[in-house]
Amino acid sequence: MLLIAMKKNRRPGFATRAIHDGQEPDPLTGAVNVPIYLTSTYVQQGIGENKGYEYSRVSSPTRARLEQNLASLEGGIAAPVFGSGMAAINAVVSMLKSGDHVVCGNDLYGGTPRRFNQVLSGFGLEFSYVDTSDADNIERALRKNTRMVYVETPTNPLMQLSDLAAISKVCRRKKAELVVDNTFMSPYFQQPLALGADMVIHSTTKFLNGHSDGLGGVVVCSRPEQAEKLAFLQKAAGAILSPFECWLLLRGVKTLAARMEVHDSNGRVVAEFLANHRKVSKVFYPGLPHHPHHELAKRQMSGFGSMITFETGSLKNANKMLKKLRVCSLAESLGGVETLISHPATMTHASVPEDYRAKLGITDGLVRISVGVEDIEDLIADLEMALLS
Ligand SMILES: Cc1ncc(COP(=O)(O)O)c(C=O)c1O
Repeated sequence: MLLIAMKKNRRPGFATRAIHDGQEPDPLTGAVNVPIYLTSTYVQQGIGENKGYEYSRVSSPTRARLEQNLASLEGGIAAPVFGSGMAAINAVVSMLKSGDHVVCGNDLYGGTPRRFNQVLSGFGLEFSYVDTSDADNIERALRKNTRMVYVETPTNPLMQLSDLAAISKVCRRKKAELVVDNTFMSPYFQQPLALGADMVIHSTTKFLNGHSDGLGGVVVCSRPEQAEKLAFLQKAAGAILSPFECWLLLRGVKTLAARMEVHDSNGRVVAEFLANHRKVSKVFYPGLPHHPHHELAKRQMSGFGSMITFETGSLKNANKMLKKLRVCSLAESLGGVETLISHPATMTHASVPEDYRAKLGITDGLVRISVGVEDIEDLIADLEMALLS
């Protein structure tokens, strides 16, 4: 916990914890930033005698500080980090065993079902996919061997919300663990553990890092046995985050609260602009009053974020518009300070079979935008010019 003097019984706020938890000055030198320990191994004083570190795949001081910080932000007890979001997702399902069943959302980041269906199902894990925006669908999909329910809210790219408190009640009753990918909202706007989730995943590559300069993933745990199992998987499978990328994340997370405020206010303006634009037929953004889960969004999240998906009508329209943009960058990924815009059908969701994409509503005209923190007037002018020309 924070070393700085705080008023009795008052937990420091989110922005303070982001800057100080795990980020205390270096005890050796007083450096205000956590040092990057670029070492693979550690000198031992004798057999079984060491200063808490033996080998960097197992643990590293820079990583330990980051894990402490992220656990604090999500309200968990531990937050083992991995080399990418996919490595974190893989670790969480590696906690299961052959024959176990997982109920998943049907509109996940494309790489997640790719891993589940094309790799892990070959090792005897079973996955089924349902629309998790209705908790009853989850209840119906549960089997005797269901051990986990895996949800993204909002979903990628259709921005559908799932009621985490309702789903967690179903999971408790049926003894399945609820895992939530909270990448789109970040812990600043949504705290799934407080709503009853058992574990939270992030691709830290996105808002937590915030600067598009490093990959990473984290699993935030609510119970010690999860933390133990995941620490074992860090050691046994080795998909850990390097000290340098841990440091980038420690630096990025310091401004998370400030960045998310601007992402959110820019996101609202862009969503409104798109919703009123004649060249855009549909906008998916939980902050818009017509969004089917707007009321849930207000209840479950403390902001609407900056992820917006919209319909341009065709692949041709989407491509024409994307080519014209000058401030927004056409690129995969999201959550950086720069506005990133992508085409789900050919980029993030290219690995989802075409007929399944069509069934879900991921059309060829759909465009997803991660609104950055640039001046809002410049973003609107860029979008206006690209849509009209
Ligand atoms: C919601 C979500 N979860 C997980 C991932 C995977 O993360 P990574 O690219 O860091 O492996 C992504 C990547 O785009 C994502 O959007």
